[in-house]
Amino acid sequence: MSQLRITDVQTILTAPEGVNLVVVKVYTSDAGLYGVGCATFTQRFLAVKTVIDEYLKDLLIGRDPTHIEDIWNTLNVQSYWRNGPVLNNAMSGVDMALWDIKGKLANMPLCDLLGGRSRMGVAVYRHAEGTSKEEVLDNLAKFVEQGYKYVRCQMGGYGLEGQEIWSPKDSFQHGIYYDPAKYMRSTIDLFQSVREKFGYELQLIHDVHERLAPSDAINFAKEMEQFKLFYLEDLFSPEQSRWFENLRQHSSIPIAMGELFNNPNEWIDLITNRYIDFIRVHLSQIGGITPSKKLATLSSVFGVRTAWHGPPDLTPIGHAANIHLSMHFNNFGIQEFSGWQDPIYEVFTDCPYIENGYIYLSDKPGLGVDIDEEKAKKYPYVYRQRPWTQSRMPDGTMWTP
Ligand code: CO
Repeated sequence: MSQLRITDVQTILTAPEGVNLVVVKVYTSDAGLYGVGCATFTQRFLAVKTVIDEYLKDLLIGRDPTHIEDIWNTLNVQSYWRNGPVLNNAMSGVDMALWDIKGKLANMPLCDLLGGRSRMGVAVYRHAEGTSKEEVLDNLAKFVEQGYKYVRCQMGGYGLEGQEIWSPKDSFQHGIYYDPAKYMRSTIDLFQSVREKFGYELQLIHDVHERLAPSDAINFAKEMEQFKLFYLEDLFSPEQSRWFENLRQHSSIPIAMGELFNNPNEWIDLITNRYIDFIRVHLSQIGGITPSKKLATLSSVFGVRTAWHGPPDLTPIGHAANIHLSMHFNNFGIQEFSGWQDPIYEVFTDCPYIENGYIYLSDKPGLGVDIDEEKAKKYPYVYRQRPWTQSRMPDGTMWTP
């Protein structure tokens, strides 16, 4: 039995790019040995911090940090009610930090600890966006020039018209308005132009972002088949995921799903019935590395590939966890990556790096990324309501974001 013990758990809040990030640091009785993890739930970051500081810390101090499986299961059931985004993100911060410690103890990068690399580098996709077709095509050309082979194309963010109505809080119309019919027409027109200009070598992705009614979504998927997408993402909301069975009877378009999932019951049927082609959960949203490696293994049995969620509201520590899993698992599909600005490189050290459309990890043990807490203080968290999670139909009806 190891004599190593957890001695402290700290939560660090920082916003180097104006997006609130949550980092957990787990200290051990071996001076200098600690781990870091990502617990970022940017829309409810203070709730996550409270769970860690007020509930998990006490439970963790004195435990052996090498017992990751036991600790994860203990944290999962100890509050009796489980599987929510706040608790899962808090657990993820701890879980990633424990894997980081385990890697440091073994003197191995996480992907080696998991069983070794399946590939030399991890192919990533970037986001070509714009408010007009020309802008999207220009941004896409820049990514192609930089060597990216996979690009997601979105006009006006997630099918929005850029028509933000940001009225005072007490007004009921507060939100961003979009028109589903216009979104479908303009997206089909965009992809027509993308294929005309760039041909069929480029791998294309599009994210519907659960913004269509199910029957419209099925017709849209059928129309999009002609563009030979790598995949179409979030065609239905998680609440409507039974529609995937229906979709499979009408269309062979590759489907990616899962960034909003919290609970294994949300993915078991989709995977075991082969209703989706790519599973793209947000690692911290399901509780970290421990549940994600089980999910990846289940997916591999049914021929479902991974496409872990990699948005800007994720620390480089969280991105590194994604990339280690992508590097290791045979059933890897693609990795989303959003790119970083200078302040991120100031706060986080040894970040993964891009070369010719592939992302690589530092060869440090564990997750390989660290946080400079002094530099993190330069970018304190900011509190603001984000408009994009208040999407409305043309008549003002609230819709899934
Ligand atoms: Co998405």
